[in-house]
Amino acid sequence: MSQDTLRPRMTTTAGAPIASNQHTETAGDRGPVLMQDYQLLEKLAHQNRERIPERVVHAKGWGAFGTFTVTHDITQYSCASIFGAVGKTTPMLARFSTVAGEMGAADHERDVRGFALKFYTDEGNWDLVGNNTPVFFVRDPLKFPDFIHTQKRHPRTNLRSATAMWDFWGQVPESLHQVTILMSDRGLPQDPTFMDGFGSHTYSFWNKDGERFWVKFHFKTQQGHRHYTNGEAAEIIGHTREGYQEALFGKIERGEFPRWTMYVQIMPELDAEKTPYDPFDLTKVWPHGDYPLIEVGQFELNRNADNYFAQIEQAAFSPSNKVRGIGYSPDKMLQARVFSYADAHRYRLGTHYEHLPVNAPKCPVHHYHKDGQMNFFGQVTGNTDAYYEPNSRGGAVEDPSFAEPPLRLSGVAARQPHRQLIDDYEQPRALHDRVLNDEERARLYKNIAAAMEGADEDVLERVLVHFERISPAYAAGIRAARAEKAAHRHAAE
Ligand code: NDP
Ligand code: HEM
Repeated sequence: MSQDTLRPRMTTTAGAPIASNQHTETAGDRGPVLMQDYQLLEKLAHQNRERIPERVVHAKGWGAFGTFTVTHDITQYSCASIFGAVGKTTPMLARFSTVAGEMGAADHERDVRGFALKFYTDEGNWDLVGNNTPVFFVRDPLKFPDFIHTQKRHPRTNLRSATAMWDFWGQVPESLHQVTILMSDRGLPQDPTFMDGFGSHTYSFWNKDGERFWVKFHFKTQQGHRHYTNGEAAEIIGHTREGYQEALFGKIERGEFPRWTMYVQIMPELDAEKTPYDPFDLTKVWPHGDYPLIEVGQFELNRNADNYFAQIEQAAFSPSNKVRGIGYSPDKMLQARVFSYADAHRYRLGTHYEHLPVNAPKCPVHHYHKDGQMNFFGQVTGNTDAYYEPNSRGGAVEDPSFAEPPLRLSGVAARQPHRQLIDDYEQPRALHDRVLNDEERARLYKNIAAAMEGADEDVLERVLVHFERISPAYAAGIRAARAEKAAHRHAAE
């Protein structure tokens, strides 16, 4: 038997074997193509539909599958099945990303990195869609689209605009905590395995007795932190724009499986009334001294996707995917994200995106959503005659044992700012003055000076007032780094 007869037979999408994939069907050997060459038409039509909309943010990404293992008992805080017993394992998917760049952006650009995790738990999918930073630029979702516009292209020049970025940050001073992290070493990890991950928001846990706790999630890299300077990154980008994909994919192919340790910070429900900072303000951390890290488990990434498009590009992570024992908090940003992601997925992937294999839960799924484009799974109500609810025809029923305990809320309905008397300067000050050492601070100033290149001076003067409030030494360091940069420029001219 020849080699070729062992190979599968090529067919049309309708299954009919294809006799030739080398020549179009023409009238005569020089003749025009016949309309009836459906094989050609199908091929061209499919090519025209190969692209789907890229994610509006976090378009460039790298992902892999893995396993989460519980190492410490936290059942006193959460009844989530994923934390049910020490030693319990749960399959998972991770996707890392940059925020601002488009699909073809270079991997080694200074940017916040996305850190999105999907845990296929036996009580449904739990998605923790975080970043490699514990805080974010804004604390009110009304500001999110405007912030993102400053990170993307100017409508006329079609270039990114330093003026727009600093203009926005200068008028939203709570953003300077995140800006400090972005411009520090942590804003340019060597590859995704060398960075921590954070759920960032305050979420909640509840236990089997219905007690609620506020929780923050942390994932510490077991590979250690490694970063590039802007100069090193520029050199790498000169050789490859795909450094993160090469590193993550390569390490997993070689069996060098990266791991992260999962910790939580736990705040008793009523403490939220007492902290000097608003614990639901996404621009603030909970200091470790107040709420220490509690170890929970670890995850390992150990399997590359077989098909990047099907399993990583079509992956749909959403903060709305939560499971029993894990809930939201009053964080306004989190509340908005509960809407935004599933809406994005319906647009980007289609109505039934949760049924795509990479998104489908690995536990039974029964719902009464009906029909719609690309319904390839039929009816999942549990019984053919039960296509409405309530029914007496054996269809799936609700289970009150999964109810979330009531959430304490108070206050008037109004468009109101976060809790008054917020100090937006204290936490970036702690990072600048106490956590960073002299070399790290020097690189921070240099990176900020580089990011300010080309921005209008009035805008920069306004933002420097805020750096001054964080710490006079911070503003002075930036001014000195700018002066040094200008001197180099003049010397080169
Ligand atoms: P600690 O002194 O207990 O810990 C400092 C934290 O800063 C560590 O988690 C460390 O991460 C992290 N860190 C070190 N360098 C950087 C950097 N360049 N960018 C971002 N994080 C960095 O801190 P506190 O809890 O008292 O908080 C002090 C400040 O540290 C905060 O205002 C915040 O800016 C920053 N921070 C705090 C975090 C928290 O959840 N409390 C988390 C991350 C940062 P690692 O242990 O991985 O080295
Ligand atoms: C992706 C909206 C804040 C982390 C996205 C997407 C949207 C979005 C629409 C694209 C989703 C897709 O097409 O699949 C928002 C809104 C926010 C917000 C409206 C605030 C109101 C945040 C914050 C974080 C974050 C605070 C981190 C703590 C991510 C990540 C992705 C993402 C990691 C990529 C997920 C993936 O890998 O598929 N965001 N976002 N976002 N966002 Fe946000």
